[in-house]
Amino acid sequence: MRVFNKQKIGFIGGGAMCEALVTGLFRTGLVAPSQIYISDVSEQRREQLEQKLGVNTTADNCAVTGAADIVIISVKPHVATVVLKEIAAVARPEQIFISIAAGVTISQIESCLAGPIPVIRVMPNTPCLVGEGASAVSAGRYAGEDSVKAAMAIFNAAGKAVEVPESLLDCVTGLSGSGPAYMYLILESLADGAVRLGLPANIAGELAAQTMLGAAKMVLETKEHPAKLKNMVTTPGGTTAAGLFALEEGALRSVLMKAVAGATRRSREMSG
Ligand SMILES: NC(=O)c1ccc[n+]([C@@H]2O[C@H](COP(=O)([O-])OP(=O)(O)OC[C@H]3O[C@@H](n4cnc5c(N)ncnc54)[C@H](OP(=O)(O)O)[C@@H]3O)[C@@H](O)[C@H]2O)c1
Repeated sequence: MRVFNKQKIGFIGGGAMCEALVTGLFRTGLVAPSQIYISDVSEQRREQLEQKLGVNTTADNCAVTGAADIVIISVKPHVATVVLKEIAAVARPEQIFISIAAGVTISQIESCLAGPIPVIRVMPNTPCLVGEGASAVSAGRYAGEDSVKAAMAIFNAAGKAVEVPESLLDCVTGLSGSGPAYMYLILESLADGAVRLGLPANIAGELAAQTMLGAAKMVLETKEHPAKLKNMVTTPGGTTAAGLFALEEGALRSVLMKAVAGATRRSREMSG
């Protein structure tokens, strides 16, 4: 089903995130390639996107903004306000502007666009590149339910999306934005632990990653609290109980809670 019917979706900045989102939109059949317009400064990148995805490309950010119903700002944060000021003159209140630029606030975006323009700010994460992203969506003061729905559909196509007030986006950054790095560290450590005891590194890495994927799927699909799932696999006096005791001794829970707090604090510092 083409949720976006004949609507055109424009991307300003045709980098990794743009490609991940477009791939998600195609995979879920939400839009056809002819509905996608991408502007990028690099001619080589534009050619690559045309060949790989069959989308329309240009070097002209205003042309994409003029053509699109939904405009996604997918340039690096330090370029975002420059680009927003550049396209402001062609922005229209019937469009939706979605920004994924980390740390650029809704009020900064609204003031660049200078009008009653619907703005949605999103914090996605890198697993969007493999269709398993975790994204949080926040609405600006001119963005209605339809704008939120459109953004949720786009980011659900690249994983899972939730809606939160903008005041919680720094916390989202500390959890799911930075979270993949925490998971890589945990995976690496578990695998190293098994290698130390004799398991070949490639097998240890695969088992650790599949275990994390499986556990995450158990939580998402059963919708049970992780503590209940943990208790289900912990036999009194057994192996898992021994492993969990070592994790408690090492204060794993408080370390991870501090990681989320530290990253959240840093996100606040960087956008404030
Ligand atoms: N990647 C992630 O996991 C992630 C997670 C959360 C949020 N984000 C946000 O997503 C945004 C995009 O990230 P990304 O990883 O996709 O970055 P990226 O790969 O660098 O993509 C940005 C693209 O925009 C192009 N560009 C630069 N200046 C431009 C301009 N004035 N007009 C049009 N295009 C221009 C860049 O070309 P050049 O490379 O030639 O400069 C590049 O192709 C960032 O703001 C980031 O904060 C990303």
